[in-house]
Amino acid sequence: MALLQERRGSVAILTFNRPEALNALNQDTLRELADALDGIEKDDAVGAIVFTGTGERAFVAGADISQFPNLDLWTSGAFAERTLSLFRRIETCPKPSIVAVNGFCLGGGVELSLSCDIRLASENARFGQPEINLGIIPGWGGTQRLQRLVGPGWARQMILSGDMIDAQTALRIGLVNEVHPQAALLERAVGLAERIGGRARKAVALAKQAILRGQDMPLEDGIKYETAMWQLVFETEDRKEGVTAFLEKREAKFQGR
Ligand code: COA
Repeated sequence: MALLQERRGSVAILTFNRPEALNALNQDTLRELADALDGIEKDDAVGAIVFTGTGERAFVAGADISQFPNLDLWTSGAFAERTLSLFRRIETCPKPSIVAVNGFCLGGGVELSLSCDIRLASENARFGQPEINLGIIPGWGGTQRLQRLVGPGWARQMILSGDMIDAQTALRIGLVNEVHPQAALLERAVGLAERIGGRARKAVALAKQAILRGQDMPLEDGIKYETAMWQLVFETEDRKEGVTAFLEKREAKFQGR
């Protein structure tokens, strides 16, 4: 299996598992990822997703380069479209995703992590968009999502130079939110996923949608969109429970409705 699946409580853990190729993404991995998402999207028991990589060396060292020699104008386009729609599915999934970057995170690994809601890294993690070293450019959203997260200055430096940055630099530029010792990383990611997954799920999904859609709108339109999501959240059972529980000074019991 190129992708391992595990459930821990309400958290689905997806582990990229091709250590012999530093967990590089090939067609099998992407197919297995699509199948895993099919299951997770339908599974009400899953509140959040954690992505990580097998071993201590790599999260994902990019697309599997052995697939590249035979790509041409048409096949490269179809390949990009398939992967982009998979990453978009992660980005727009109502269930939030956290990536635990446990080593090399390069090319498609960065692009996948940019489609997740929250990025955490181990101290030995290294990030890069090294496509330029192969004479190509990022094709799975890197030129667009990276600059939206870290700003155009760092995006240009990483994409044009192909040089890697370490975990502390990634933290400083906002590419990751937290850095942890390797041994503590997965536990932290799963703990955070459990906390978020245990919140009022419809509110989490609507907040995520407001942030995501608002990113591509002028501020005024984004705020109008937020108001629409805020109105929707008032129709949920969990809103009644959350507010009542606070006023009754007790813990809320959210049902995801
Ligand atoms: N695609 C396919 N195989 C890859 C890979 C990738 N993206 N990244 C690493 N591998 C393979 C290597 O070919 C090697 O296989 P081998 O043992 O059969 O020779 C194995 O993983 C270990 O990698 P290796 O290069 O020997 O490790 P290293 O510690 O010397 O270097 C990296 C690590 C990450 C710096 C180096 O592997 C690398 O530059 N990888 C390519 C990263 C890249 O360009 N990604 C973007 C692709 S668009």
